[in-house]
Amino acid sequence: MNDNRNLVLSVVGARPQFVKAAAVTPALAAAGVREILLHTGQHYDWEMSAAFFEGLDLPAPTYNLQVGSGLHGAQTARMLEGIEAVLIDRRPRLVIVYGDTNSTLAGALAGAKLHIPVAHVEAGLRSFNRAMPEEINRIVADHLATIRFAPTDAAVANLRREGLSEGLVRTGDVMYDISMRSMPVARQLLAPTTARYGVSPGAFALATIHRAENTDNTERWRGIVEGLLEVARSGLPVIWPAHPRTRALFSDPHHLPITLIPPLPYLEMQTLVLAARVVITDSGGLQKEAAFLARPCVTVRDQTEWVELVQMGVNTLVPAEPEAMARAALTATWPDHVRVNGLYGDGQAGVQVAQAVKEFLDGDRAVFEGGNLPEAGR
Ligand code: UD1
Repeated sequence: MNDNRNLVLSVVGARPQFVKAAAVTPALAAAGVREILLHTGQHYDWEMSAAFFEGLDLPAPTYNLQVGSGLHGAQTARMLEGIEAVLIDRRPRLVIVYGDTNSTLAGALAGAKLHIPVAHVEAGLRSFNRAMPEEINRIVADHLATIRFAPTDAAVANLRREGLSEGLVRTGDVMYDISMRSMPVARQLLAPTTARYGVSPGAFALATIHRAENTDNTERWRGIVEGLLEVARSGLPVIWPAHPRTRALFSDPHHLPITLIPPLPYLEMQTLVLAARVVITDSGGLQKEAAFLARPCVTVRDQTEWVELVQMGVNTLVPAEPEAMARAALTATWPDHVRVNGLYGDGQAGVQVAQAVKEFLDGDRAVFEGGNLPEAGR
């Protein structure tokens, strides 16, 4: 029989999860934890998946379920079936899930149903908008999890409010780890990368829009496109690395006065964030990455999970209206005295996660708030 004492299974599937796993996977190995990496195949285009594994030195996944696209129910069901089979076969003692995608939901459900404890990295984030699929996914994952790794004070408070104080570990943000790690190279790439896109450092807006709430609502979508066109017409060039869902909405992107490009590899994206005057986005990860690099952000959403950035005045929520978007983007500045240092940890969040996982597997509960954890799956 396999020795599974130190064995965990991590579920990833969508772009931001490859970044998060890149902070945790090497730290688990260093802590002596054996990890099976399972890719659901939610993201499958080279730019959305393989480019990230290569660019982030993430080992190739042991399993790729290749579930592809689909309606939420069908996509999640295919993941559940595949993850369950692997869990039964390999019997890891912990399932690690990341963030808030359908892959997170499927991993958490599959583990919980088989009585295998679940650890949720990036627990406790809330938009308080249940129309977002991500909000449903993160609430379910948090409630099923045995270990909840919360990256911010707001996340800790949200979990406590929902009665989820047990198994709570306040860590830094794993995306901060990777952003800091990539900075020296991003700085070197700054000049050639901006030159490639024909812009000058500090003199362009970097935009990404992909959330269903924006792309699937015709009125919002029109407002957003018009808003970005307005920014460009006002003299601030716009570079827009477009998610496949977004790209598909343009019949002829070449006629736009904005630079619409394919999704970028991680390092190139960080380089453009570093070089941008302002970031305009609806992505959760990019809101933080802008702040890590002291770039102001305009978020085209009604609410955000990263409330501390709005409170600090470095992230502005705007409606999907052209004038509001353009005004916010053209006037956004990063206040001189503001730094996010410490807010998201010290660049060692992945190590904190790995150490807590190791302690959990070893049966040492001291690290967890609240105690009363179930035994790691035998
Ligand atoms: C998912 C997450 C979201 C996260 C985002 C990061 C859910 C519910 N949402 O959204 O939280 O911010 O990933 O990118 O899990 N597509 C391709 N090629 C790909 C991947 C997707 O063409 O490699 C297309 C699909 O066909 C689909 C659309 O993009 O039509 C959306 O893909 P989907 O898997 O539903 O989730 P995302 O929108 O990427």
